This record gives sequence, C-alpha cells and structure tokens, in this order.
Amino acid sequence: MEVIETNKLRMEELAAGRPRLAGQVDALDWSELEAALEECIFKKEESGLPETYGPAEYLTIEPEDSGQEKLYAQALEHGESLVRAGKTAAFTVAGGQGTRLGYDGPKGTLPVSPIKGKPLFQLFAEQILGVSEKHGVAIPWYVMCSPLNLEATVAHFEEKKFYGLGMENLKFFSQGVMPATDFDGNLLLAESDSLALSPNGHGGSLKALIDSGSVTEMAERGVEHVSYFQVDNPLVSVINPLFIGLHDLQSSDMSSRSLTKTGPFEKLGNFVSIGDRVAIIEYSDLPEEKALEKDGKGRIKYRAGSPAIHVLRRDFIEQFASGEIKLPYHRAEKKVAHLDEKGEAITPQEPNAVKFETFVFDALPLARNPLILEADRLEEFSPVKNRTGVDSLESSQADQVKRAKRWLRNAGHAVKEDAIVEICPQAFPNERHLAQADLGEYDLDADLIYLG
Ligand code: UTP
Repeated sequence: MEVIETNKLRMEELAAGRPRLAGQVDALDWSELEAALEECIFKKEESGLPETYGPAEYLTIEPEDSGQEKLYAQALEHGESLVRAGKTAAFTVAGGQGTRLGYDGPKGTLPVSPIKGKPLFQLFAEQILGVSEKHGVAIPWYVMCSPLNLEATVAHFEEKKFYGLGMENLKFFSQGVMPATDFDGNLLLAESDSLALSPNGHGGSLKALIDSGSVTEMAERGVEHVSYFQVDNPLVSVINPLFIGLHDLQSSDMSSRSLTKTGPFEKLGNFVSIGDRVAIIEYSDLPEEKALEKDGKGRIKYRAGSPAIHVLRRDFIEQFASGEIKLPYHRAEKKVAHLDEKGEAITPQEPNAVKFETFVFDALPLARNPLILEADRLEEFSPVKNRTGVDSLESSQADQVKRAKRWLRNAGHAVKEDAIVEICPQAFPNERHLAQADLGEYDLDADLIYLG
C-alpha cells in the first residue's frame, strides 16, 4: 500500500514537472546544440592550434620612444573626446557560476574593498559615476548575467538603489544556456523536471548583447565602443581613454590589454599572431617548447598574457547577428550532478559530463586591425577567483591597498608602511585625478585611510 502511495506521489510529481521540462526542451537552440556536439563530442576538438604562429606584438605601457610618446598623448586626447561625446559604454560579464570561489550569490555582490567592504558591483558603479562626472557625460553600463543569477543580481541593485546610476544608464540581461551531456552526447537531467543547464561561456556575451536589444540601444545612443571586463577584477579601469583612443585610431574591431606573464607557464591565455590576425592560445594548449622559447633579449617570447580586458567596436559585435560568423565551442569536462536512468540522484566524484562554452577571445582572429596594449599588473589586474592563495579575496585586497599607497606616494604623500588605504573610485577614478587633488582634509598619518 505504502509503495503504491509513494509511486502515485512520484507520478504526480513527474507530471507536474512536465511543463517545465517541456519548456526547457522547446527553448533549446537545437542547431547550436548540434554544432556543439559535432565540434566537441563526435569530432572531439582537434588541437586548436594554428599551423604557424608567433608571439603577438603589443604596445608597451611605457612609451619606448618619442614617436610612441606622441602617439599615446594623441590617443589619450582622442579617447577622452570619445568618452565625452558619449561614444563609449561599459560592459561587465557576470554570468559565470564562480564555482572555484564557492560564494553563495552572484560574484559581483561579494564584498571586496579592504576598509568599507564594498561589493565588486559597487566599485564598478562608483568608477563609472566618477568617469562620467569627470567627463560630463552619462556612461551606460551593461551587465550580462545568466538565467541562474539575473534575479539575484537585479535584487541586489534594487536594494542598493542602483548605486545612484539612473535606470536609463543601466541594463541587465541574461546570456544563453547550454545543456550538459554525458561523454556520448546524451542530455543529462539535473532533476526530474529540469535539464542540467549552464551558462554558455563568456563568448555568449556577443549574441546576448544582440538578442537583448543592447546593441540596438547602443546604436540609438551613439555608442561606438564597448569596454568589456570581467566581474571579478576590482582593479580594472572600466573606461580607459588611452586604450579606447589607441583602438579607435588604429580602426581596430577588437583590442585587448595584455600582462607580462610572471613565468612561462602562468595560467593566462597567450596572445599569438597569425599573419595580420591575433589569437589567444590557452595556457594548457601552448606547447612546452614554445612556452620556454626566449627572444634575443633573453625574455620569454610568448610573454603577453590575457587579463580578459577588451574593447569591441559596436559594429563588429553586430556582425555576429546573422549567425554567419560564430565562435567555436570548447569542451569542458566537469562533475555534473544528475539523475540516472532509474531516476536516482548521482553525485559524481570524477568528471562525468561535458559542458559546452564559447570564449569571447575567439572573436579576436575575426577582428580587423587588432591592437594589444600592455597593462601594469599592479595597476589593473587582481581578480578574485579562488577561496585562498593566488587570485583570492585576500590577495586582491592586498593588491588594492598596494595600488592605493602607490598612487598616494607617486603624488608625493608619505603613508605608513603598514597603513591600510582604500580609495573611492567615484571621487578618484584614476591616478591622475588623485594626483591633482588637494588631500588636505585627510589624515594621511593614520593606520586606516579612506579617501572618498
Ligand atoms: P571564469 O572563467 O573565471 O568563470 O569567468 P567563473 O564562472 O566566474 O568561475 P569558475 O571558473 O566557475 O570558478 C570569467 C568571467 O566570465 C564571466 C564570469 O562571470 C567572469 O566575469 N562568465 C563566465 C560569464 O559571464 N558567463 C559564462 O558563461 C562564463
């Protein structure tokens, strides 16, 4: 009797869940899935390496000669004029699942600043406000979430009154999802009424910008350049006039910042050149002998690594609308909890499934006149990816303090060796603004210094 009752309940539960599952199946983009299965399961990824390539050339952050110095001065002025004319937008990709960090909530809501504990989203919002105020223009901010964190992200912003950014300058939208499959390409059920779905990678941002109407809206506002950055890097310069100016002067479709790698095997994508095009080869794919190669000056040849900071021309993004040009799918083997054929929940200990993702940097080889500008790591890159150690909250906070002290010392202010310093990005969006400011009202001898 009990068994019959339990089975009845189970059947009712399954029937109740059917519409949700049917909705998910209907919403799947089957031609995309077919392409992903073809690329990643049936053919498997052949080595993604081009036949011939060399290290990509990049512009060093410090000008190397007077010609470059002149170019940078001109580019800075040009970039600032583009910002002032409202031709730039900030764009954050915040659709990832942040599994390494394991934080319960959208990563952008993680408190990260060293004194005030401001969340990542707040630091970006304040910087956008700061740059907007300095240039007398409202810079729009587009935030890509995923169906898994859109609601929580919007709720966070609502609670914080959108950090003072007008709603007309802020847009949230969702990227697409892809189903996970087993190693033979069979779809997996996460629950009896749901497929195992996950965000389709940051490459999904190009399609999502189009499908959400963001690109059309940008065109209406006169935005020509989209400043792309990840949600996990509190040091990023959300709108960088020098970078945007260089990118536009070179008529580049997509430009990137680079970091000088700390060693041959640092886990950053490697910029390479293929003829007049640029591409990124993932650290796991760059052959060891290439990684170790040195140039005439004894430096690692493939030293330009990617911190995932780009500027994309709006009309370049629009080219992805028709589906004629597409980003390739990458195969990621992951542990995905699912139901087996009998409906039993399985929590795998080893990778058991394939997730399909596209990467935004795969747009680079399609871009005309790509430009790479080196970044100073301490100035612009210290992401929060892991719970501890490298690229953790602790290391990122230490770097935020280091940069704040460096800005103060460069401006001629002495601060204690072990002082903790935090700079409000709205008051001082970059070093130049701090250097020009009168800091007389602050006690710079204190152990804790908040400038803002
Ligand atoms: P990561 O590759 O660091 O992935 O994303 P993640 O999901 O944040 O973290 P892990 O790997 O699960 O620990 C780099 C950036 O790309 C965004 C992330 O939000 C982050 O800003 N991203 C990633 C998306 O927007 N969508 C995705 O599908 C994947």
